Parts: sequence; structure tokens; C-alpha cells
Amino acid sequence: MTDRRKFVRFSLLTSAAMLAGKAISAQRKIEDDEVTYSTLRGQPVVVSTWDFGQQANAAAWKVLEQDGSPIDALEMGARVPEADPYNQTVGYGGRPDRDGRVTLDACMMDENGRCGAVAALEFVKHAISVARMVMERTPHVMLVGDGALQFALANGFRKENLLTVKSELEWREWLKTAKYTPYKNIENKMPGGQYNHDTIGMLAMDNRGNMGGACTTSGMAYKLHGRVGDSPIIGAGLYVDNEVGGATSSGVGEEVIRIVGSHLVVEYMRMGYTPEVACKKAVQRIAKRNPGMKDDFQVGFLALNKHGEYGAFALQKGFSYAIKNGREDTVYNANHLF
Ligand code: GLY
Repeated sequence: MTDRRKFVRFSLLTSAAMLAGKAISAQRKIEDDEVTYSTLRGQPVVVSTWDFGQQANAAAWKVLEQDGSPIDALEMGARVPEADPYNQTVGYGGRPDRDGRVTLDACMMDENGRCGAVAALEFVKHAISVARMVMERTPHVMLVGDGALQFALANGFRKENLLTVKSELEWREWLKTAKYTPYKNIENKMPGGQYNHDTIGMLAMDNRGNMGGACTTSGMAYKLHGRVGDSPIIGAGLYVDNEVGGATSSGVGEEVIRIVGSHLVVEYMRMGYTPEVACKKAVQRIAKRNPGMKDDFQVGFLALNKHGEYGAFALQKGFSYAIKNGREDTVYNANHLF
């Protein structure tokens, strides 16, 4: 029932300090670098970024409740927004790059640390399924661009146009000014208050307590052709360690890559921090590296640990996440720094 690992002990305060009546610091003393986790069994759970993660969770849950694996569940879940033409940040219908090309990034990671990814993939809407095939059928971790497309077509995927009329019209409107600042400004809120970045990142634990993760996106709207964000990069947009937990991200990928964000969140959980605090510490790291920032851009992290505990934290207001387990099917707003 229990996977015993190394121990960590959190010593709150010395009793001497308390006796002396000194102000109690909340500081914890970490005496080792790994937390002990027992494997939770028989309580599957799936969490996903954003409100639309709820539909993805529903599809994933059908697999998990029938004793399916995290990877099977996550693939089914991620395919939901990928197929949705009204979701303009993932898969079919995603906003194109500045040349009008829809290019997709995706990755998966399983309980054994196996992973697969595709980046800058065109003409195939289910990038997550191609990423899974990279993981399962090749000795590699990532295929990009034409190579990823070639691989997908050779493995039975169909080539199709991913640019919907709505996304094309919006892109043509954008072309009139084509204000492109590759770093931050394009990430600001779109008219209507939506951030243009709504990558779906998903984490799941199955009946046996095994974990996996998936992440898929069309990336930053109107990006330079060839730009790859954090979503397909293992450690940045997604990371899973079956001894500890998993994390995923949404927002400006460049900022997440710079701190190897999802891996960082998992390592904070390994130190004993709760999922939410682990996410908060990664967000704080980004803020620290961007002194003076306020609402320049958005990054949010979502994490799930081996106890089935979950949490999220974002730079800005507006990041949400969805959770589905045997007790709840809920969308939460994440706490935020600014
Ligand atoms: N977080 C997704 C991206 O930056 O493309």
C-alpha cells in the first residue's frame, strides 16, 4: 500500500526560541531533500487548466473510472479541446502564427518517466496523439515541424486544414496593424478581456496511484513562424514524477522555459510543499526575474501530488482549473500574485 521513500522532517521552531518568547517564524527547516509519499490507491483524479478543462476531465474520467491508465485517460481528455473549432488556443481552430499557419505543440509523460512531444506540427489536429506515438513508437522524445508531420502521416493521421474561418478572419484583422512584439505585448489581454493563451495542461492519477500528464496548445497567437513555447518541452510545460506528483503550465511559454517551471514545481513538492504553495513559489520565481512587472503577461501553474491533493497559482487574476474525482467535478479560480 505504501511506497516508502526517503524522509523529510519539517522542524517548525526550536522550543528554546518559543520558551524565550521570541516571535514565531513560519520558516521551516528542511533537513533532507525528499518528502515521503504514500501511494493513494482507488481514488482516481484528473485536473486540467482552465474552465474548458472540465469537458476534457469528463472524457478522461470515463477512462479512469473503468480502471484505465492515466495516459489513456489524458489522451482522451486532451482530444476534446483539440477537436473543438471554437477553442482558439488548442488544436483545430487554434489561432495561427503571423504567417497564417496553425502550428501545434504537445507532449505526454507517463508514470515510468517515458515522454513524447511534437512541436510546430501543422495539419494534424490531435497533436497529443502524435506526441503519444513519439513516446511509444520511437526512441526519441520530440519531433518537430515537417518531421513531426511526416511521422504523423506515416502512422495513419489525416492531413487537414486547421485554420477555421473565425481564426482566419481575426488573423486578417490583426494583419492590418500587425503589431508584433514577440515577447510580452501580444500576450496581454485580448479585446474582451481574455488572455490569448489557454493551453490545456492535464494531470491524472489512476486507480493504482500511477500518474501521468499531457499538455497541448496552438501556442501564442501570431507568433513568429517556428516559435515553440513551453507546452511540448518536458520539464517546462509538463513534468511528472510518479514518486511525487506532476505539474503543468499555461501562459507565456518563454517565461516558463526560463525557470523550467513544471519541473521546479514538482521539486518543490518533493521538498514537502503543498501543490498550491509549490506553484506559488514557481510564480514568485518568474516575478523575481521580471522586476517591476505587474500585468505584463500571465503564467499559471497547476499541480497534483501523490496524495491526490491539487492546487494552482498564477501571476494574474483569471487563471482557472478544473478537477474531477469521485467526489467533485469543479472549476476553481486560482489564487494569484498581482
Ligand atoms: N504556454 C504555451 C505557449 O507559450 O505556447
